[in-house]
Amino acid sequence: MNATTALDNSIDSVTTPIANGASAVARAVLEGLSAKPKFLPSWLFYDAAGSRLFEAITQLPEYYLTSREHAIFTKHSAEMIAAAAGLGKQELSVVELGAGSASKTVVLLRALVATQRHATYIPIDVSEAALHWASKNVRATLPTVVVQAVCSEITREQLLNLPQDGRMLALYIGSSIGNFDPADAVELLLWLRSQLRPGDALLLGTDMVKAKTPLVAAYNDGAGVTADFNKNILTRLNRELGSNFALDAFEHRAVWNASASRMEMHLDSKRNQIVRVEAIDRSFALKRGESIHTENSYKFTAEIVEDMLLKSGFVLEQSWYDDDRWFGVHLARVVDSDSMMDDDAEEAAA
Ligand code: TRP
Repeated sequence: MNATTALDNSIDSVTTPIANGASAVARAVLEGLSAKPKFLPSWLFYDAAGSRLFEAITQLPEYYLTSREHAIFTKHSAEMIAAAAGLGKQELSVVELGAGSASKTVVLLRALVATQRHATYIPIDVSEAALHWASKNVRATLPTVVVQAVCSEITREQLLNLPQDGRMLALYIGSSIGNFDPADAVELLLWLRSQLRPGDALLLGTDMVKAKTPLVAAYNDGAGVTADFNKNILTRLNRELGSNFALDAFEHRAVWNASASRMEMHLDSKRNQIVRVEAIDRSFALKRGESIHTENSYKFTAEIVEDMLLKSGFVLEQSWYDDDRWFGVHLARVVDSDSMMDDDAEEAAA
């Protein structure tokens, strides 16, 4: 089924079941720009240039999320590993959804290899470039860790085929869960839970609700990197679909939607204009002030986190925060309950 090929010696193995081809981009653009209000899906951000811009965002003074979460891992990794292993002190393997550069993960893996002899790290990402980056990063600092990269989208259809021995610790950090609408977030966590076994653990990173000023600044920095990141979608479409978006005819806008508890990112049209998208043979009219909605970033309270986890078949065990409670990392356990029994568990029980 899944072909496993060793790509280079920084990765022990990599599995590549899918690719986001040009047709997926074309379909997404046709759907999003035909919708009212217009939108573009946020996975379009992460081409090579977009991934580099996002990495630059994580180093901005205004973008507190990455530095706060990094600090939480630095301070509490040993405690997190001990709590995840539980009383049985079982050996842990780490699977990470959306690995990125894995710089925070290295902190956690270092605490892991301090307590057990063998460690396997399974980074999963849609971007093969990100996987190489993550794997090199881990291998350079922790050469004994076995890296089994999986290039994949995270979808309900996808089986992770995780190791069956020992206990899994799943990582979903960086508040990526906040980029899903609440119902979709639960669906994603339910899928993750179905790939894990009772007793396995999850470390979930969430950005917390806070005052509006730091929130808006985090998504509209003074140097304009976030604006470039948002507009990079248009550059990508111009290149890949032969569209003619004029970058200076759009404005990056980040707003705090308090009632939905989310930051919203938009590209607002500065004038009435018609944009041509050659690859799908379509033109789209935009009015002055009309927005293309590109991203939501939900912000959480402790109660919302607990509720989301419960709905997904996890029980929240412990949370760690920075001193201001701006960012949280939560340890949750896969529960073994009949009400949450999935197909795999039913098969195993039969
Ligand atoms: N996942 C990131 C977040 O929600 C993505 C992000 C950061 C982003 N800055 C952005 C998306 C600006 C769109 C625009 O925090």
